[in-house]
Amino acid sequence: MESLVIRQPDDWHVHLRDGAMLALAADLTARQFGRAIIMPNLVPPVTTVAAAAAYRDRILAALPAGRTFTPLMTAYLTDTIDPDEIAAGHRDGVFTACKLYPAGATTNSAAGVTDIRNIDRVLERMQQIGMPLLVHGEVVSPEVDVFDREAVFIETVLAPLLERFPELKVVLEHITTEDAVRFVETGGPNLAATLTAHHLHIDRNALFSGGLRPHAYCLPVAKRRHHKNALRKAAVSGNPKFFLGTDSAPHPRSDKESDCGCAGIFTAPVALESYVQVFEAEGALERFEAFASEFGPAFYGLPLNDGRVVLRRENLQVPQEVSRDGQHVVPFHAGETLSWRFEGAVE
Ligand code: DOR
Ligand code: ZN
Repeated sequence: MESLVIRQPDDWHVHLRDGAMLALAADLTARQFGRAIIMPNLVPPVTTVAAAAAYRDRILAALPAGRTFTPLMTAYLTDTIDPDEIAAGHRDGVFTACKLYPAGATTNSAAGVTDIRNIDRVLERMQQIGMPLLVHGEVVSPEVDVFDREAVFIETVLAPLLERFPELKVVLEHITTEDAVRFVETGGPNLAATLTAHHLHIDRNALFSGGLRPHAYCLPVAKRRHHKNALRKAAVSGNPKFFLGTDSAPHPRSDKESDCGCAGIFTAPVALESYVQVFEAEGALERFEAFASEFGPAFYGLPLNDGRVVLRRENLQVPQEVSRDGQHVVPFHAGETLSWRFEGAVE
């Protein structure tokens, strides 16, 4: 197969940032995707309808003229967030979903939730109005090994939560373990998961390959190879509970290459190329379109995109660095040659 024409895909989990980084991040995501779920972990976090609407305007203003892209905004849950604010934002079409960051779990999560019980009233309301909860699924207790944090979260937080709110729509984001795959597979139709491209490519060895590799560091951190293999099988399985969410998370090179490097992998420049390579290696190219363009909208209850895009089977040399407005970021697959190239929309 020399080219692949698929329905316009969406990214169901992305960080576009703000300020000087926004134009770079937004342009690269909007180049490949029709819609994206925009993470709210800005400083300060997006906790109000007004802040989300203003951020949405800044994203649209940062895009080159003529790009059609729909940012789907999320609310950052805190211990004290008002259920009425969340419901009003959802009713008015500003908030598509809410994001749960356990406090301290990752980048800009300090204002997150310290105990899941603190947001029971919000979750109750979200269940009532059919608003999805997007979960960063890691416990933060220092006693729990960093590689076990997702599995322990599923057992101690997520499973009990779904018992208390059995109809709540939940997306377990950027899953990294076989445990998560099994949990989502066996859950109800209201439970789904996103898979990043990087977790389909790298296992934890990548962090230490020939030395310490800050650009392979993200959260949840990559796990053992057998976990990666379970994620790849889930991605290509055709099960609609697993869909595309890059978790593309740009940090300036200097913040990654530091004595306390930030977590995050910048996938946006080569997101579709990276995913399609996995589907090809797994002999499942014919399942790529559903994963990238159909299962996400189906879960969110949104229409499919109308347009089509083309990927060509051509070598793509990934640059060592992507720069704009004084921001320098190392992309995922930097320096590698990929075997597909995203071409753009079919006219
Ligand atoms: O690697 C990550 N980067 N994981 C997250 O959960 C947050 C993200 C970021 O915002 O940098
Ligand atoms: Zn994220």
